[in-house]
Amino acid sequence: MLSLTNKRILLGISGGIAAYKCGELTRLFVKAGAQVRVAMTKASTEFITPLTMQALSGNRVALDLLDHEAEGAMGHIELARWADLILIAPATADFISRTAHGNANDLLTALILATSAPVAIAPAMNQGMWGDKTTQSNVKKLEEKGFLLFGPAEGDQACGDVGIGRMAEPIEIATKSASLFDKGSLAGLNFLITGGPTLEAIDPVRFITNHSSGKMAYALADEASAAGAKVTLVSGPVNVRASNLISQIDVTSACQMHEAVMECVASADIFIGVAAVADYRPAFPAKQKIKKVEEELTLRFVKNPDIISDVASIENKPFVVGFAAETNSVIENGKRKLDSKKLDLIFANNATETFDSDVISAIAISSHFEQEILPGNKNSVAREMLQIICDVMEKKNNTA
Ligand code: PMT
Repeated sequence: MLSLTNKRILLGISGGIAAYKCGELTRLFVKAGAQVRVAMTKASTEFITPLTMQALSGNRVALDLLDHEAEGAMGHIELARWADLILIAPATADFISRTAHGNANDLLTALILATSAPVAIAPAMNQGMWGDKTTQSNVKKLEEKGFLLFGPAEGDQACGDVGIGRMAEPIEIATKSASLFDKGSLAGLNFLITGGPTLEAIDPVRFITNHSSGKMAYALADEASAAGAKVTLVSGPVNVRASNLISQIDVTSACQMHEAVMECVASADIFIGVAAVADYRPAFPAKQKIKKVEEELTLRFVKNPDIISDVASIENKPFVVGFAAETNSVIENGKRKLDSKKLDLIFANNATETFDSDVISAIAISSHFEQEILPGNKNSVAREMLQIICDVMEKKNNTA
């Protein structure tokens, strides 16, 4: 059940057809216990009336930058200070562009410049407009400024097109808003997670790698963050995206991943090594593209640093969790890695089933127990894994 008790949400509505969903969104916020105030652009009043929004929110709707009824005629500053969260839904392409460029020529853009509260946007526009390079670069600018992105969703559009661009459903936006305030069961814990493959250069255009998609690591990062943890994700090159709440460090090679992890590990309570790190890298990557001259080509490899082993050997080490994807003797090999790498816990899984799949099953193994995790999608399994991590960590702390 959604809980937003006494949270002050300022809903900014810009002028798009999806504005009609703001009635339902406001109803969900109010039902969850939030105080809601609404600010609308002139264009948005063509799609939903201020009177409707006033009736649903229980508050007068702000429409103008200069508000004669507000104290000191500075309505935008009062609202900007009042809000715990500013949510712009729908956020049109024009609104996103003006905000990305720091404009303050109407009430909503001025509010955003003035506030110190978190700002979330729920984009809504035609799929072509969403895919346009300028829109994408504007969205990127806002994300870099720390704006949260709720959606957009994919599907049928009011204009008849099908694609990415429709506003996320009110329940999804309300849930994401609530999760920003939800301290959660992992609140106060810092997670450091590695994910994805590493790429090891052979020459400037070639590399060796593996089939890791990053899905498992990103699921763990998203679920830990949704449960209130602060998460840093060190990721090899993948096509999945993490939630905006996660601080992500992108790397390419095992050596870069090692360096990034070692820089962050001091503040981690829990380290989870999900990445499929290359054990070896070409000893002498060619400076120029290797030409097809010889009949045979021999590459020499050198060992990469073992990231998780190095984490497990530092003083004041975090709780260290590994993964082992094995093609045979899954449990035996998992146990061997648990011991040799001095891990607190390992999730052994079947490599032929888990790489790049949406589904995973695993065996959780620690020095004193084994537990089977039945097949499920990576997000539901991630929640189960996080529960096991907390249980084993608690037992370890109690016996220390
Ligand atoms: O990314 P997905 O497509 O979702 O797939 C998920 C997964 C199969 C990658 C994941 O479930 C998994 O099992 N990851 C570990 C892959 C593996 O077999 O790692 P390993 O056996 O080479 O290493 C064991 C542990 O040591 C792992 O925690 C690994 O991150 C770590 N390691 C390994 C080598 C190295 N140089 N440094 C490390 O930290």
